Amino acid sequence: MRIGVPKEIAPGEARVALVPSAVAPLLKAGLEVVVEASAGDAAGFPDEAYRTQGASVASRAEVFQTADVLLQVRSMPADPALRSGQTVIGFADPLGAPQAVKEAAATGVTMLSMELMPRITRAQSMDALSSMATVAGYKGVLLAANLLPRMFPMLMTAAGTVSPARVFVVGAGVAGLQAIASARRLGARIEAYDVRPAVKEQVQSLGARFVELPLESADAEDKGGYAKAQDESFYRRQREMMLKVVAGSDVVITTALIPGKRAPILITTEMVEAMQPGSVVVDLAAERGGNCELTRPDEIVVHKGVTIVGPSNPASLVPYHASQMYSKNITTFLMHLLGKEGAKQSSLPINPDDEITRETLLTHHGNVVHARVRELAA
Ligand SMILES: NC(=O)c1ccc[n+]([C@@H]2O[C@H](COP(=O)([O-])OP(=O)(O)OC[C@H]3O[C@@H](n4cnc5c(N)ncnc54)[C@H](O)[C@@H]3O)[C@@H](O)[C@H]2O)c1
Repeated sequence: MRIGVPKEIAPGEARVALVPSAVAPLLKAGLEVVVEASAGDAAGFPDEAYRTQGASVASRAEVFQTADVLLQVRSMPADPALRSGQTVIGFADPLGAPQAVKEAAATGVTMLSMELMPRITRAQSMDALSSMATVAGYKGVLLAANLLPRMFPMLMTAAGTVSPARVFVVGAGVAGLQAIASARRLGARIEAYDVRPAVKEQVQSLGARFVELPLESADAEDKGGYAKAQDESFYRRQREMMLKVVAGSDVVITTALIPGKRAPILITTEMVEAMQPGSVVVDLAAERGGNCELTRPDEIVVHKGVTIVGPSNPASLVPYHASQMYSKNITTFLMHLLGKEGAKQSSLPINPDDEITRETLLTHHGNVVHARVRELAA
């Protein structure tokens, strides 16, 4: 069985789905690996490093012609060269663009979506959304520190005392918790808030203050541990209560997401106008519409002295480690799919009795098989 790794072609995408150090374990398992020329260049992995590990390096056409399984970061839009019998694993944005999944299904290709990885202990090492959120949380803090005209740590010097930056993290999931930890290492004073009350202790254990908004959000979490969408009156009251905290912050980092939905607007223009000039908002939800009303993805917006940035692909700004983590997630998933029979089989087995396969499987035998995606694509 041949594993193909195409170069990512989405604008601004610097990650690669497989890093050189992941090649040897695949060869050992009896697989062949073919990587498109310069696929790893933008992430800091030259072709030579793949060759040294035993992969072959080929043209894009050859990768798509000869591979049985394609590993990608972004698997949509599906490459026109894909055909029946091939399997593609990657971020397919199935809830954001279900029609594209329907079109891919018609080619007969089997597609599995990294976004739909179930949040169960067994699948933790395959959870690429968590890995990318970790990278984004870290980078979000550095972007803020870079744009802020102040320092993060408190310093007592012969030239006087420098007060610590006040950072407010909205959304304390994987990205938010990493942002808290990273801002803490830089010495900031941190407050954080999430609709899921369950995260309060995690926030506190990282040394941040949990902002209590007296809003009844008992029904905040679904069975997968993700936030549920709230009604408009909840969001309105939440915004009213957050105004004071935002006004007192030098940096606001937002990470609030609802799976399959537009990100909720939590930081309004009024709140931004209440911040001190020079303050910074880093919106890590920009790819899904943003948490701040003023965010324009990948642009630097300055509104009444406050800078707002919303990188649409923050993980790609740290492409070396983002690729290393993604590569680990996707190869663990691949080995899981191969199962005990391993590379002896002529094609990648698809076993719908397995929870991980069932939850991530988008298309198979010409159909959209994932119920939620099928409904959205109808
Ligand atoms: N395998 C596993 O068991 C596993 C793996 C990864 C994550 N998790 C858990 O899942 C949870 C969510 O993970 P995530 O970071 O991927 O979520 P996410 O990226 O979907 O959302 C980020 C955060 O935004 C929060 N949020 C949504 N709406 C909000 C609002 N209006 N105001 C404030 N905050 C809001 C969410 O509660 C979440 O914490 C975490 O508790 C995480 O630990 C479990």
